[in-house]
Amino acid sequence: MVTPNIRSLLASKEPVQDVTVQGWVRTRRDSKACTFIELNDGSCLRGLQVVADNSLACAELYPKILTGASVRVTGDLVTSPGGKQAFEVLAKNVEIIGESDGTYVLQKKGHTPEFLRSISHLRPRTNLLGSVFRVRSRMAFAIHKFFQEQDFFYVHTPIITSSDCEGAGEMFRVTTLPQGSAAKPEEDFFGKPTFLTVSGQLQGEVFACALSKIYTFGPTFRAENSNTARHAAEFWMIEPEMAFYDLEADMGLAEANVKYLLKSLFETCGEELEFFNKFVDTGLIARLQHTLDKPFQRVSYTDAVDLLLKSGRKFEYPVEWGQNLQSEHERFLAEEHFQSPVTVFNYPRSLKPFYMRQNDDGRTVAAMDVLVPGIGEIIGGSQREERLDLLEQAMAAHGLSEENYRWYADLRRFGTVPHAGFGMGFERFLMFATGVSNIRDVIPFARTPGHAEF
Ligand code: 4AD
Ligand code: MG
Repeated sequence: MVTPNIRSLLASKEPVQDVTVQGWVRTRRDSKACTFIELNDGSCLRGLQVVADNSLACAELYPKILTGASVRVTGDLVTSPGGKQAFEVLAKNVEIIGESDGTYVLQKKGHTPEFLRSISHLRPRTNLLGSVFRVRSRMAFAIHKFFQEQDFFYVHTPIITSSDCEGAGEMFRVTTLPQGSAAKPEEDFFGKPTFLTVSGQLQGEVFACALSKIYTFGPTFRAENSNTARHAAEFWMIEPEMAFYDLEADMGLAEANVKYLLKSLFETCGEELEFFNKFVDTGLIARLQHTLDKPFQRVSYTDAVDLLLKSGRKFEYPVEWGQNLQSEHERFLAEEHFQSPVTVFNYPRSLKPFYMRQNDDGRTVAAMDVLVPGIGEIIGGSQREERLDLLEQAMAAHGLSEENYRWYADLRRFGTVPHAGFGMGFERFLMFATGVSNIRDVIPFARTPGHAEF
């Protein structure tokens, strides 16, 4: 039997006789004449109040209806006299499906995020994590809608790869060789060294150079040992790749993508947003609305460095042309200087991977990063080098084997076209959208250095 969820019951226009509803008990409170059960099934933030009279045959069960237990209630959906909610269920019968007991840790409220991370099998039952994961699901759907509505094709790029897209050497090795084996890579399962992918971009380019506009949306893996609030070893990335796009068009698409998602967030996650705004970050809704209403700022890397140098600010990491922008620099630009998302473009060539398109100045590449207040970088992208000779030079300079990347160079050998793309960290976007400040709390099961629960 499929029963209506609480979300649909609460959205009811009128009372309904004879409903069955199932969920988990958040609280139970007894009065002289009846017991009140707050029931939640995760379909929405709000719970359903169940009022069960002490005269019912099931009344002897009430003392066993503890926080965390699962129950099935039949009764009538009636207008709630209390005024706190539009409807409540007046029970005719309450059945316990699965009991809970006094050791259930979520009986108490106010657990720290650290503690909740240690119980990732139970934390989706909390208001905060439940809200985050409802938002995560709706945003994933909106991502597909955004691209599909514009004739992008969804490509499933491989998770196991023999290429190091970002060239940063931060890859997890995939092997069936026993630990400490002296066997050569040729004797391994794939006959060569293989890794978990850090990005689907290179394979995405193959499909963009055939279907014109494509996107990937899947898990990516980085073995960078940075224990920060915005790095995970396994995270999801959205990577569109477009033939016939230059950097300008790429930046435009990135901005449109973020705005589409925020619009959808306001339309589909209103209740969750109110919750985050109240309990997580009181500036959230105003900041998201501002992001939606204003054009993103744009600044070249060179100008950004000047702004930082002239800011009079003392940063922990030095600011110098040719150095990476650190998180503190990115946040200064987005939060304080521009007070808005800002796209920084044309980075020094020496800082960036081999595939980025060289600019005419010879020292920068057509790269762009979107930085947002509170987080810093959420998107990184570029126009790709479509000129075979320059690509081959860049590959040589990065020590890439011509043989391994021949397929990639072939895309320039046969019908090369200007093309561009970007990668948006899904969790980084979710942090921005919810105000949740730690990446571990926007991904169902976080994988970070030293942590891989379940
Ligand atoms: O800037 P990145 O490294 O760019 C690429 O991987 C390109 N191949 C993308 C492309 O052009 N198709 O990563 C893209 C985004 C970052 O802006 C960030 O949001 C996210 O991925 N990201 C991470 N998110 C969580 N944990 C990590 N360790 C991340 N590393 C990158
Ligand atoms: Mg980047």
